[in-house]
Amino acid sequence: MKIYVAGHRGLVGSAIVRAIEAEGKHTWIGKTRAELDLLNRKAVLDFLSKEKPDSVVIAAAKVGGIHANNAYPVEFLTQNLQIESNLMDGAHAAGIERLLFLGSSCVYPKMAEQPIKEEYLLTGALEPTNEAYAIAKISGLKLVQAYRKQYGHKWISAMPTNMYGPEDDFDLENSHVLPALIRKFHDARTRGDSSLTLWGSGSPKREFLHSDDLGRASLFLIENYDDDIAINVGVGEDISIKELAELIKAIVGFEGVIEWDSSKPDGTPRKLLDVSRIKSLGWKPTIGLEEGIRATYQWFMSH
Ligand SMILES: NC(=O)c1ccc[n+]([C@@H]2O[C@H](COP(=O)([O-])OP(=O)(O)OC[C@H]3O[C@@H](n4cnc5c(N)ncnc54)[C@H](OP(=O)(O)O)[C@@H]3O)[C@@H](O)[C@H]2O)c1
Repeated sequence: MKIYVAGHRGLVGSAIVRAIEAEGKHTWIGKTRAELDLLNRKAVLDFLSKEKPDSVVIAAAKVGGIHANNAYPVEFLTQNLQIESNLMDGAHAAGIERLLFLGSSCVYPKMAEQPIKEEYLLTGALEPTNEAYAIAKISGLKLVQAYRKQYGHKWISAMPTNMYGPEDDFDLENSHVLPALIRKFHDARTRGDSSLTLWGSGSPKREFLHSDDLGRASLFLIENYDDDIAINVGVGEDISIKELAELIKAIVGFEGVIEWDSSKPDGTPRKLLDVSRIKSLGWKPTIGLEEGIRATYQWFMSH
């Protein structure tokens, strides 16, 4: 297959490219934002009808942490809706039979029963801080299902848990919790601080998947999965933010103390995906959290 990876320079897209190259069975193409703005509908339709890839992976999105999501809901909703519909309408017009849409675990209800099964989608209210993003992602997976139903395309969606790895965003204004902690501990160690204050109580539990595991899972799904259900991708285990902070502190080599500011909000107490469906198909993650964070910190240091 010739696979077009939309967002090939991002955290997830770059991992999918590494997986394609490591497997060696397919070729891939990618375009930078300067070469192809995915918000430009005509340009996207022209590109797909000219290139006619065998498969499209939608790893391009407007992505951000809690602050950015909360402050810019208009951009998170409109840009993600446009990127998804431009790529899917273009793939349909070009007759592309395989397409993988990447959603996110934030599509699930805030108070969903744990671990979260695929069928819990749309059974409760969303986390308000990233509702705009989640609604755009739910629309994307519903558009995949609509194209399957109306035109019979073998298109699929996957819902990855929290990701980390090389090419992540370490900017404190925009980053997710794991890269933000790497950056904060690194900066505190560099300044020689004796303490570092982190938000919340540290008690919420979260699951983290290395992007190279998602890259391999994405390829596995393109090759083997053909179902209406947007499939969860994760490790099936979680860790408290306090334990995560201690682990990153040790890896970065910060010798001060961690102080927890419990006046700041904690967010959802737990968010763990049920990954029995993808595991039953024969896929499992291979990168342990400590090993993955060490490699990510090395990447951060060299970039
Ligand atoms: N990060 C996570 O923890 C996580 C977890 C679950 C699911 N996901 C999903 O995985 C997907 C990718 O996320 P990510 O973390 O890899 O994000 P990312 O690192 O920000 O990468 C997104 C990519 O999309 C490109 N892009 C955005 N808008 C574009 C536009 N208008 N035209 C062309 N390219 C555009 C970006 O290009 P520029 O470099 O030019 O901005 C970037 O290369 C998203 O659908 C997200 O929901 C991510």
